Amino acid sequence: MDITSCFCVSAAAVFFFTVLWKLKEGCGTWFWTVWALVWVLVWALVGSSLYLSGPPVVCGLAVLGCSLFLMCETEKRVELQSRAVLITGCDSGFGLALALRLSESGLKVFAGVLDEDGAGAQQLRGRGCENLQVLQLDVTDNNQIETAHRYIGTQVADTGLWGLVNNAGVLHCPVDAELQPITAFRYCMDVNFLSAVKMCQVFLPLLRRSRGRIVNVSSMAGTSD
Ligand SMILES: *[C@@H]1O[C@H](CO)[C@@H](O)[C@H](O)[C@H]1NC(C)=O
Repeated sequence: MDITSCFCVSAAAVFFFTVLWKLKEGCGTWFWTVWALVWVLVWALVGSSLYLSGPPVVCGLAVLGCSLFLMCETEKRVELQSRAVLITGCDSGFGLALALRLSESGLKVFAGVLDEDGAGAQQLRGRGCENLQVLQLDVTDNNQIETAHRYIGTQVADTGLWGLVNNAGVLHCPVDAELQPITAFRYCMDVNFLSAVKMCQVFLPLLRRSRGRIVNVSSMAGTSD
């Protein structure tokens, strides 16, 4: 094998291992496009250098260039371990499932529950996951919100809060409006709406610190009146 072929095969090998390395890093979909495109180039190069003994140095340089590009391309990937999220209403349903899911992905999760001795809270604690903390948090109780805020503030002092998921909500017995006492409507507004506003007000400074996001969870029942 002459020196040109050696160079080209080496270039292809470098590219091949770069691709493997990038795949291991789990890169996004754009990467697959580049991968497919450049593979065509690689095969053309290897084929021409081995069988046609043409001048494939240019192709070799191109493949090396691609390898370097891929190596230097540091996709902005989220460092989940350093991110913290607060979810309300983790006693059951979406909140519980989300707390489990996000903590399994490595995020630091503060799971607010209405009843810290309830079944949901126990299930969360039972995971023994050190990045999942259960907090007593009745979202209609300003004192509990303040306590949670102080605690989370000490825990994420440097990084702030990456997400607030206003998930806590109630659904009253869906009967005719004239049969519902006004207190039921008031309670519904307190839990489903005003508490979300309050949570946003209290946690915005921590959210801003990490350019975090607010996610409001609603229900299809909210459109039925
Ligand atoms: C979430 O709810 C709060 C309080 O009602 C509101 O201010 C905010 O705009 C909502 N955010 C989103 C993304 O819906």
